[in-house]
Amino acid sequence: MEIKMIQLIRGFKDILQPEAGLWQHIEKEARKLFEIHGYQEIRLPILEKTELFARSIGETTDIVEKEMYTFTDRGGDTLTLRPEATASVVRAYIQHKLSGTEPVRKFYTIGPMFRRERPQKGRYRQFYQIDVEAFGIASPYIDAQMILMLATLMERLGVTGISAHINSLGCPDCRPRYRETLTAFIEARKEQLCEDCLRRKDKNPLRVLDCKSESCRKAMAEAPELLDELCAPCAEHFAVVRRELDRRSLAYKVDKRLVRGLDYYTRTAFELQTDMLGAQSSVAGGGRYDGLVKALGGPDIPAIGFAIGFDRLVEVIAQTRPPEEARPEVFFIPLGEKAMEKAFDFCMQLAEKKIAAEADYSGRSLKALMKRADRLAAPRVVILGETELQKGLATVKTMASGEQEDIPLENLVERLSLP
Ligand code: HAM
Repeated sequence: MEIKMIQLIRGFKDILQPEAGLWQHIEKEARKLFEIHGYQEIRLPILEKTELFARSIGETTDIVEKEMYTFTDRGGDTLTLRPEATASVVRAYIQHKLSGTEPVRKFYTIGPMFRRERPQKGRYRQFYQIDVEAFGIASPYIDAQMILMLATLMERLGVTGISAHINSLGCPDCRPRYRETLTAFIEARKEQLCEDCLRRKDKNPLRVLDCKSESCRKAMAEAPELLDELCAPCAEHFAVVRRELDRRSLAYKVDKRLVRGLDYYTRTAFELQTDMLGAQSSVAGGGRYDGLVKALGGPDIPAIGFAIGFDRLVEVIAQTRPPEEARPEVFFIPLGEKAMEKAFDFCMQLAEKKIAAEADYSGRSLKALMKRADRLAAPRVVILGETELQKGLATVKTMASGEQEDIPLENLVERLSLP
């Protein structure tokens, strides 16, 4: 009987080498940069009560309406695999009273998120975010700091082909007024809207602004813009963010249609966008969410954050610089049992000196193992032949030049430690 192979779930993926090496590199650079700026790592559960996401991301958002992995567990609780990290970070901030006497707290967290979207290039059902959040700072300087930090990370990673977009989404003072104007504008054009927009126009009219459907775009082309109707404090806040980005010569685009897909935002919203991933343009996104801590039962504390789509960032980088397979620096070809024991000892000694060495213990012929050495692309190959071993020697071959020399075994580790 044929045994059926089990495949992974649609929209999920395995991250293999050499790509996983690129993930590690990005993560290392991100941690280094965030920690210099005072952000500390926290690690949170991937499962939360469904209500947490419904109340923070918003009941009428695509995420909550149709994308969450929600189930009832055996105890009868309604739980959801987190579709994003901000809600959990806020929950933890409130629950552990992290505001305490020092409300300024800066965190980052890295891990998998789950959204049941239609899978396509750059869009998965399990994807990863590098999420950064700062609590307790109302000043626009932190907005600028976050955007600049994100840009610096991209620069350090050598990312090309992305642009920064910023907007302001106002506050509870100016947004409701604008909402009314916008709703009136939408009502007058409702025959032209797509089904999704017709459904969400009353509860979430701002979302109509960034609908991708051709007819909605046409209908909304002349829509009033929130950025033009901000209250004075919001306008001033946005002006300072812009001034600080300008002072540091960051190129960005003011994008009046950037509304983001989550309901908790106030004031500054931003995204890093690319055209390298087809329909998925957003590599990172974030913004201020000054009312969320309070709305989830905590103190009235302002906050701001962003999340990088880790998978998308990897794909953007890999398109310009495909990651390379890791290779050992030294490859041992032991011929015979005695030689294998010696090769094993040398590998252990080299590892202590932080030199990556591999040996082949298959007992195959010199010819077969030289082929493997070529495949692994190790710059140096050490052949431990029986006759050489009897003479206390090993043959070191430098692959680039083809040069070959016999080295006394007692000098071998030292010789291989030299460049
Ligand atoms: P978001 O815009 O929903 O924001 O997601 C942030 C990033 O996650 C996106 O820019 C994208 O790169 C990536 N992403 C989202 N969905 C997928 C998917 N299905 N497949 C692959 N990548 C995806 C948030 O999640 C907010 N929590 C960001 C934030 C933090 N705002 C304040 N603090």
